[in-house]
Amino acid sequence: MHVDGPTMRFMCVASDLDRGASRLVREDGEAVAIAMLGVRGDEGWIGGMGVAPSHRGHGLGEHVMRAVLESARSRGLRRVMLEVLEPNIHAIRLYERLGFTRVRDLEVWAFPAPDAPLASEDGPTVEKVPVEVAHRFIRDHRAAPEPWQRADGTLAALLADGAAFEGLLAKRGDLAVGAMVTRVAGRASVVQLATLPGEAAPATRALLASLRRDDAPQGVRWVNLPATDPAAEVLRALGITCDARQHEMELVLG
Ligand SMILES: CC(C)(COP(=O)(O)OP(=O)(O)OC[C@H]1O[C@@H](n2cnc3c(N)ncnc32)[C@H](O)[C@@H]1OP(=O)(O)O)[C@@H](O)C(=O)NCCC(=O)NCCS
Repeated sequence: MHVDGPTMRFMCVASDLDRGASRLVREDGEAVAIAMLGVRGDEGWIGGMGVAPSHRGHGLGEHVMRAVLESARSRGLRRVMLEVLEPNIHAIRLYERLGFTRVRDLEVWAFPAPDAPLASEDGPTVEKVPVEVAHRFIRDHRAAPEPWQRADGTLAALLADGAAFEGLLAKRGDLAVGAMVTRVAGRASVVQLATLPGEAAPATRALLASLRRDDAPQGVRWVNLPATDPAAEVLRALGITCDARQHEMELVLG
């Protein structure tokens, strides 16, 4: 994974990464391990950690993680979250050694925006609305809290930084049955989506159908959608396969 300056800036803003709370290990002046910590209230999130390839296998991963967890504790954080790709068994074992436990499985989806309507004829209609309107519906109807990178904190931080978002509302007559917030910049990133319980499939399809190929030539990306979210079922039913699976893990700090 290559992280350049603009990407790092985006990560810091979007995920509230705290440089002072993060930890870097140097050897002979050279950076050899890093663990970045995001902080929101009394919650923390590991926003990237790794050891330089030349220095792996000597316990530096555990060393830098213990240091960043100490930093989290000293700031009074109640728990620290992270995500780790399913095949990354060395990292998973490292986190388990440190006491992290699995919360749920998350999926990373990337697929082309539809070039033909996906919505069925008896599906809800979709209209553009201010982001706050879509977000209010989502806050009231979300099935579960979004993972860190799509959480309310990320939305608030990026809005404050001037990023553009779109709000969409799926309606049957006057009744709102679903809402979605996306960030569209060549690619449409689904930030949050929620529906009324009985409307999961038609409302999700209608909302996704409104992301047309002209607006999102680089496709649609939906990062860390819980595997059990009804929207994941909708994507599977559309014949789309997820790109990657991650474990969301947490450590409750004593
Ligand atoms: C995962 C990672 C942080 C572990 O750091 P580390 O300092 O090598 O950790 P340790 O020395 O404690 O060894 C951890 C495991 O890696 C194995 N390992 C040994 N030498 C290794 C090497 N040269 N390269 C990769 N892994 C190695 C160890 O056998 C150990 O296995 P086990 O604990 O599963 O039995 C490191 O491999 C890394 O930076 N990977 C790429 C970035 C990454 O995956 N970050 C986590 C994102 S969630």
